[in-house]
Amino acid sequence: MKKHYKVIIMGNGYTASGTDSINFFENSLFCINEEGYIEKIYSREDGDYQSLLTHARKSGILHELTSGQFLLPGFIDLHVHAPQWPNIGKALDRPLDQWLQEYTFPLEARYSDTEFARKIYEHLVKTLLANGTTTAVYFATVHREASLELGRICLELGQRALVGKVAMDDKQACPDYYRDESAEQGIKETRLFINEIKNLRGNERSRVLPVITPRFIPSCTSELLSGLGQLAKEMECHVQTHCSESDWEHNFVMDRYGVTDTQALHNFGLMTRKTILAHSNLINDNDMNIISSVSAGIAHCPLSNFYFANCIFPLRKALDRGINTGLGSDISAGHSPSIFDACRHAITASKALNDGVDPQCAPEKRGCPGSAITFKEAFWLATGGGGEVLGLPVGQLREGFLFDALVIDTNCTGSDLLVREQEDASDDILQKLIYNTQRSNICEIWVDGKKLPI
Ligand code: GUN
Ligand code: FE
Repeated sequence: MKKHYKVIIMGNGYTASGTDSINFFENSLFCINEEGYIEKIYSREDGDYQSLLTHARKSGILHELTSGQFLLPGFIDLHVHAPQWPNIGKALDRPLDQWLQEYTFPLEARYSDTEFARKIYEHLVKTLLANGTTTAVYFATVHREASLELGRICLELGQRALVGKVAMDDKQACPDYYRDESAEQGIKETRLFINEIKNLRGNERSRVLPVITPRFIPSCTSELLSGLGQLAKEMECHVQTHCSESDWEHNFVMDRYGVTDTQALHNFGLMTRKTILAHSNLINDNDMNIISSVSAGIAHCPLSNFYFANCIFPLRKALDRGINTGLGSDISAGHSPSIFDACRHAITASKALNDGVDPQCAPEKRGCPGSAITFKEAFWLATGGGGEVLGLPVGQLREGFLFDALVIDTNCTGSDLLVREQEDASDDILQKLIYNTQRSNICEIWVDGKKLPI
């Protein structure tokens, strides 16, 4: 038995190791090494359990959860627009193109002021951590300095993050006050940004990664898109963009290129194993083939889709096709900073797609039967699914994975959770946690094996 662990956490917990595979850990010992990885997990039946527990107690490295507390992998938000945080809860009655031009671009333009950026970004990162998001994938703005500041803040506050300086250069689509000056400039700034993120002080372990971020096809010229595609190949870093989100956006790309977003992105070299496609609601079978052939991933953003997508993402189909999929809040097109909420909305949306929604339609014509997902699948998407999309060892309580985790206290003041451990089956307890955990229930956050202040 090795005794060099940094900390040993003892308690009940859950992890998903696939869409339909949940492990329940009962009073287990999670042994975290100096590098922040889960080196071993001992269950009570393991021979070494008792001696390890005694050792951990004696040496002061034991962290014991109390009755009513549950350990889960930290949640992963695959799609957040950090600068849109001040607009949370605003203008959701507008269509996407108006919302962008009238509300979103004017706000994002303000991040030329790095001090303003720091204030907002600090508040957002703290809020996401407190809601259980240990890894976030951010769109920042076109401003390199403010986007770097977001990376610095994630390093300071302890969150794992992927950060993109947004690239957008099309003079017809983007306002003069808010765009890259030219395609060349957008590519140059992105390249600089990637190197600056990699070299940030405190980022020696790459807890913050750079992301190549063409906003979406309608706001970028072909020159910018192909240049960023080349950069993705050269730098081997992550790529993120919006894909086939709404009718307007999808048709815009069909009109311009005569192909779908997915096909166009593929043609520009932007579809890689490290690509994260936000939405992808209107993808067809061929698009799904492209996505799975390169093992790219999808950030499903169910709440935002209710406002801006005109339809519901075919999640069941994507999962059945084995496409890497996770969840995104899509702040501020989505009005919740919680990936617990995203789980609930993913379940609700899939049920609406399954049954259909128009009571005037005959039941047999109303929906797409077979579309509903389960709470277990939602839990997987929020955790291990997100980790798979990113290709990082996060999102599971599993040996060899980084210890990014959250603790839910079902007995906290004002809890909406009523768990009766003697009566509730272990699956039912997890179901209760997924449906009703609120921010106030989240009592601990760990990233890289370190407990963060929240
Ligand atoms: N498409 C292009 N930009 C955006 C954005 O900021 N939010 C959403 N939801 N869709 C977009
Ligand atoms: Fe978005």
